[in-house]
Amino acid sequence: AELWTRTKCLFLSLNPLFPGAVGQTVIYPFTSTCAVRGSTVTLPCTFTPLKSFSDGGREVPLKIVRVRWCQNHEICQGSTPSVFDSNSTNNDPRYQYLGDMKTNCTLQIRDVQQGDSATFRFRMEADHPEGHFTNTTGVTVRVDDSTKIIIISSSDDKKLSRGETVTLLCASVCTFHQLEVTWFKDGHGLSETGPSLHLYSLTAEDSGNYTCALKKNMKTLSEPYSLQEEAGGLFTGGNLPPIPGVVFVVLLAVIALILFIIKRYKSV
Ligand SMILES: *[C@@H]1O[C@H](CO)[C@@H](O)[C@H](O)[C@H]1NC(C)=O
Ligand SMILES: *[C@@H]1O[C@H](CO)[C@@H](O)[C@H](O)[C@H]1NC(C)=O
Ligand SMILES: *[C@@H]1O[C@H](CO)[C@@H](O)[C@H](O)[C@H]1NC(C)=O
Ligand SMILES: *[C@@H]1O[C@H](CO)[C@@H](O)[C@H](O)[C@H]1NC(C)=O
Repeated sequence: AELWTRTKCLFLSLNPLFPGAVGQTVIYPFTSTCAVRGSTVTLPCTFTPLKSFSDGGREVPLKIVRVRWCQNHEICQGSTPSVFDSNSTNNDPRYQYLGDMKTNCTLQIRDVQQGDSATFRFRMEADHPEGHFTNTTGVTVRVDDSTKIIIISSSDDKKLSRGETVTLLCASVCTFHQLEVTWFKDGHGLSETGPSLHLYSLTAEDSGNYTCALKKNMKTLSEPYSLQEEAGGLFTGGNLPPIPGVVFVVLLAVIALILFIIKRYKSV
């Protein structure tokens, strides 16, 4: 039995999903997050249940029979109210358990409300109390009531050269995680729905005023971000576009001069 336990420990510590796991663990890849009211937030979570326990030298296998998530409760045991309980038939549909009874305990909160500003903890319960476990660290969710949306650019410069690549990020004041947004260029909707808009190899057509808003709430429309693509300077080499402009101006001047001379000649 001892050799088996050692082998199991070795296996678990070599398992990349659960580094260093020897007993029960619940891992929250991030322990705090921020969500905008009305948005959807996912709390990733993985767990390793105890496979068995030793009862007077006898290995008793364990099986997870119940999983739950609680709000602002250290242990989440007994009759503590939970936001999700696999044993309950009337869970609030805003809280979706995306996990399973084996390793994944991910919880998704939809239509985030102010009351979701709290610490959420996952608890597993086995067919014997020996297998019950809660990681008291939990995930703290901060709900931001402000629906202010801003555009952040990957470039400090608003005047960008032809061929450059720039990424615009549509962010709320607290996060850009998982935001579903609508992008606009000069008021026209773009097809991109993710929070980042990549503009590869800029051309004059990319110049304009960009705005974005939360898909679910158009009232969150950001301030416009004005992007100007500037054709490269005359001396940067390789960028020829300014020349036709110069030629055009010179031509205009020549025509004006000719007209002026003709007019003077006529009036003499
Ligand atoms: C509890 O959760 C934290 C955050 O994910 C993690 O660092 C820690 O190892 C966990 N502890 C156990 C015993 O699962
Ligand atoms: C939860 O459900 C499992 C099986 O679905 C059952 O074995 C267990 O006794 C239930 N626990 C409670 C506290 O109702
Ligand atoms: C857990 O389940 C969710 C939803 O199905 C999935 O997106 C996520 O990748 C899973 N996590 C792991 C570590 O498998
Ligand atoms: C962008 O907005 C500025 C004022 O903020 C305006 O002067 C400019 O004409 C706009 N550009 C376009 C392409 O609409």
